Amino acid sequence: MMLLLRVATGVAIAGLCARAEDEEYSQFVNPFIGSEGKIPGYVYGGGNVFVGSAVPFGMVKLGIDTYEEPVNQSALNGGWTPQGKVTGISLMHVSGTGGGPKYGFPAQMPLASIKTPVNLLDNRTYWQTRDGDDIANVGYFRTHFESGIAVELAATRHAGLYHYTYPSPTEKHLLVDFSHYLPFPTRPWDSQFYTGGEIEIQPNSSTYTGYTSIANGWCLGAPVTVYVCGEFDSPPDEARAFSGRNTFPVGRHFRSFGNSTTPEPTFTGSSARSGPMGDRVGAIFSWNGTDESAEIRSRVGISFMSVDKACAYKNEELSFWDIEKTTKAARDEWNRDVFSKIRVDTSETANHTRLALLYSSLYFMHLMPSERVGENPLWDSDEPYFDDFYTAWDLFRNQVSLWHLIQPTYYESMLRALIDMFKNEGYLPDGRSGNYNGLVQGGSNADNILADAYVKGLRGAINWTEGYAAVKKDAEVIPFYDNNPVDPFGSLKEGRSALGDWIPLGYVSADRSTRAVSKTVEYSLNDFAVAQIAAGEQPGDVDLYMRRSAGWQLSWDRDASSRNFTGFVMPRYANGTFDKTYEILDCGECNWSDESYEGTAFEYSFVIPHDIERVIELMGGAQHFEERLDYVFQPNTSGVDLGVNGLGITTINNVANEPDFQTPYLYNYLNKQWKSVERSRQLANDFYFNSSDGIPGNSDAGALNCWLVWQMLGLYPIVTTPVYLLESPWFEDINVTVNHNHTLRIRAKDMDDGDGRQGYYVQGVSINGEKWSQNWFNHGDAGGIMTQGGEIVFTLGAEQKVWETGAEPPSPGHMVLDVDGNGYV
Ligand SMILES: *[C@@H]1O[C@H](CO)[C@@H](O)[C@H](O)[C@H]1NC(C)=O
Ligand SMILES: *[C@@H]1O[C@H](CO)[C@@H](O)[C@H](O)[C@H]1NC(C)=O
Ligand SMILES: *[C@@H]1O[C@H](CO)[C@@H](O)[C@H](O)[C@H]1NC(C)=O
Ligand SMILES: *[C@@H]1O[C@H](CO)[C@@H](O)[C@H](O)[C@H]1NC(C)=O
Ligand SMILES: *[C@@H]1O[C@H](CO)[C@@H](O)[C@H](O)[C@H]1NC(C)=O
Ligand SMILES: *[C@@H]1O[C@H](CO)[C@@H](O)[C@H](O)[C@H]1NC(C)=O
Ligand SMILES: *[C@@H]1O[C@H](CO)[C@@H](O)[C@H](O)[C@H]1NC(C)=O
Ligand SMILES: *[C@@H]1O[C@H](CO)[C@@H](O)[C@H](O)[C@H]1NC(C)=O
Ligand SMILES: *[C@@H]1O[C@H](CO)[C@@H](O)[C@H](O)[C@H]1NC(C)=O
Ligand SMILES: *[C@@H]1O[C@H](CO)[C@@H](O)[C@H](O)[C@H]1NC(C)=O
Ligand SMILES: *[C@@H]1O[C@H](CO)[C@@H](O)[C@H](O)[C@H]1NC(C)=O
Ligand SMILES: *[C@@H]1O[C@H](CO)[C@@H](O)[C@H](O)[C@H]1NC(C)=O
Repeated sequence: MMLLLRVATGVAIAGLCARAEDEEYSQFVNPFIGSEGKIPGYVYGGGNVFVGSAVPFGMVKLGIDTYEEPVNQSALNGGWTPQGKVTGISLMHVSGTGGGPKYGFPAQMPLASIKTPVNLLDNRTYWQTRDGDDIANVGYFRTHFESGIAVELAATRHAGLYHYTYPSPTEKHLLVDFSHYLPFPTRPWDSQFYTGGEIEIQPNSSTYTGYTSIANGWCLGAPVTVYVCGEFDSPPDEARAFSGRNTFPVGRHFRSFGNSTTPEPTFTGSSARSGPMGDRVGAIFSWNGTDESAEIRSRVGISFMSVDKACAYKNEELSFWDIEKTTKAARDEWNRDVFSKIRVDTSETANHTRLALLYSSLYFMHLMPSERVGENPLWDSDEPYFDDFYTAWDLFRNQVSLWHLIQPTYYESMLRALIDMFKNEGYLPDGRSGNYNGLVQGGSNADNILADAYVKGLRGAINWTEGYAAVKKDAEVIPFYDNNPVDPFGSLKEGRSALGDWIPLGYVSADRSTRAVSKTVEYSLNDFAVAQIAAGEQPGDVDLYMRRSAGWQLSWDRDASSRNFTGFVMPRYANGTFDKTYEILDCGECNWSDESYEGTAFEYSFVIPHDIERVIELMGGAQHFEERLDYVFQPNTSGVDLGVNGLGITTINNVANEPDFQTPYLYNYLNKQWKSVERSRQLANDFYFNSSDGIPGNSDAGALNCWLVWQMLGLYPIVTTPVYLLESPWFEDINVTVNHNHTLRIRAKDMDDGDGRQGYYVQGVSINGEKWSQNWFNHGDAGGIMTQGGEIVFTLGAEQKVWETGAEPPSPGHMVLDVDGNGYV
């Protein structure tokens, strides 16, 4: 899967011109990393990544939609699957998500024939197996169908260019099916469904316009209406709109003919509309004159606002029909706005595996959320708009902290967008897609995101009075029950469903709430986050939220014991007793209705980033803490079937899922930084590769990829605090553009980590020339190193050295609760 469009100019210019944005970093990106899981040929357990063409945070992510059997080991989330049949090529996708698929619309599908048995309303009669390997590189995608049709794709921010080459110049067809979307065949409750649309073919036949509305999907969202404006580079010989009864499953309150037989289309002239029965609509375009070319190009704009806007995007962003030019524009944007923000040696002698891991990881962490400035159909506002925060639970761990540094403009806009959602819809989102808040996995983790920005001094045009009101609402007001079938106890839509426990009891109970263990842990950090913003915005509230942030200690059962370790966060009932039968090492399905979500009590007992000091005390002191930490990295200790969230992982610590992201770095809190380096490096080496199965689980909008970027930089952020842990960089010289136009330089002296010699242990660190005795620093330390730039120099070597003599990393939420009595000591 090599680079097809390796454009000579970019590479040649780089030698002459010193401007980093001209360097062709995109050549190192492998867009297939995470496209496959451990079972060859299937996505199951893999990254679920989008493979196609997109610009950074682009609204359009143009790629193929496929159907692959057996469905139980497939995942249609990103559209692309290794060997699935192509059912359409659509403009909107998500990347790296678990749960039910989202988007996969609006689509086109090129057909070499429309003769029987092709039924335009039945994708199974025309879907296409692909020949050979697909080609993907930054901004570009190419595939080849069994029918002989070649498809090339390139995207702009709000439009997509399709370039089709047919086997026969005299028979070319193009299907536009507005009822196409990515289905979830095995799970109807959160599958998307079609609710209606309208298509109109303009008189000269080369342009079609209309809209499609698709509801539900992962966050059980309201219908998403997308306006479409498509055009072909040559007028078809024939263009026919059609409609047909909808026989797909739909949600309650929508009409369809259930599971009756798929009808044949009814041709309706130059337009078709769904009408009151929600009929499927589409159009078929045919070019079959004698002197035609084998190629058809189509440019399509989309908008959430209007057909006019969709057409304007098409015309403005794709004023030419050239796939190479469009690809180059996308690639230039990626180089300029993303890859050149982290610059390392790219010469022939550099380790190209590492270049691939670094730049591919940066690529995957910039596909979501989707930037939709000017594309918010829900309310009028001058604030920027973003969608597809999918999800805050994933992003808050460390991804927002990297955007903070290298994407200050986008990042500030995202935060303003989040706050504007609170202002206009009542709550910050936890997971949001399709303009709809939905599916809160645990706490209200946008609180953590806002706090992380706040404590690092980000102000800009963010109204923090409103930002504080938003997080305080999460902390105080129980959201309406949304009747989600998977949780009978409280809302999954937004906010914190278990405040009815949390506020009076100080913990989330196991009998009145679901996911008591993980919610208790998450609400604790959420309230710490609220306190961090309160410190500047409403100081009188600080004490309240700091006290609540210690609530996890009320769920600490000091008698609970597992594998010779004693003391864990455990499910506790409202009457104060603990669930003594709870399996500390097995959260069962670890699902919505279980006592802990996507992580065991063993794991969550470490996930208290604001008060590791207290965790160490409760685990019996530094030595016991260290032994327990060592233990969770031992092979064959896991007591749970991790399923897709950690296929093949046998340690208790699950590097493939977010709760445990920070755990390998906790040795810093014992001033044994070398062990953090060793553990985390080993995890990275064991689980991240430049291959299609090269990440250990769903990439989760790039969260896993971002974990690797921090690992390669030799830093790790402690979210909701201004602290960065010092680890061990993977490159001798890294220049990071922070705060728009300042340079943070990270150097590694005496690096020698090839050939298994493991010369990556830190021997000493200096920051801006000053010897650094702590294994951490603050955002504003050393004259504002993360805002003004500066230099961190690591000296590396083979010795497992305790080089840090200063204070351990802080526990700014430190508090001691009397765990038996509920009182504060
Ligand atoms: C999917 O189901 C098939 C049987 O239909 C089975 O052989 C296979 O192991 C299953 N795959 C997974 C990942 O569960
Ligand atoms: C293809 O058709 C089948 C049968 O009607 C349907 O279940 C499925 O959702 C369709 N898939 C796509 C991508 O349209
Ligand atoms: C076809 O009609 C559309 C809409 O009126 C117009 O924008 C486009 O330029 C026309 N194309 C040609 C080839 O005339
Ligand atoms: C429709 O589905 C129901 C139950 O899901 C089934 O009993 C029935 O046979 C199906 N009808 C058709 C026409 O497939
Ligand atoms: C092109 O195809 C259409 C639809 O199948 C048909 O009506 C028309 O006669 C064909 N034209 C030629 C030149 O074959
Ligand atoms: C980093 O920046 C410094 C100072 O401009 C420069 O000397 C060095 O070559 C740069 N290193 C890389 C890898 O870009
Ligand atoms: C911030 O929001 C508050 C509450 O809506 C408003 O009163 C205040 O004027 C805003 N501040 C600025 C600078 O816009
Ligand atoms: C627990 O400790 C006992 C006594 O030291 C030992 O025999 C046993 O193997 C240990 N169990 C585990 C799971 O480590
Ligand atoms: C406390 O509540 C749990 C769950 O409802 C119940 O099983 C247990 O018996 C109760 N214990 C006491 C002492 O009331
Ligand atoms: C989680 O629960 C939902 C709803 O009951 C179910 O559809 C899904 O399959 C479950 N997932 C796992 C991994 O068990
Ligand atoms: C750096 O970026 C900031 C923010 O965009 C801008 O205000 C400032 O003028 C820039 N400084 C330089 C030297 O380019
Ligand atoms: C290049 O980096 C990879 C990934 O870290 C590593 O496995 C490999 O040993 C390195 N190659 C050399 C020659 O150092």
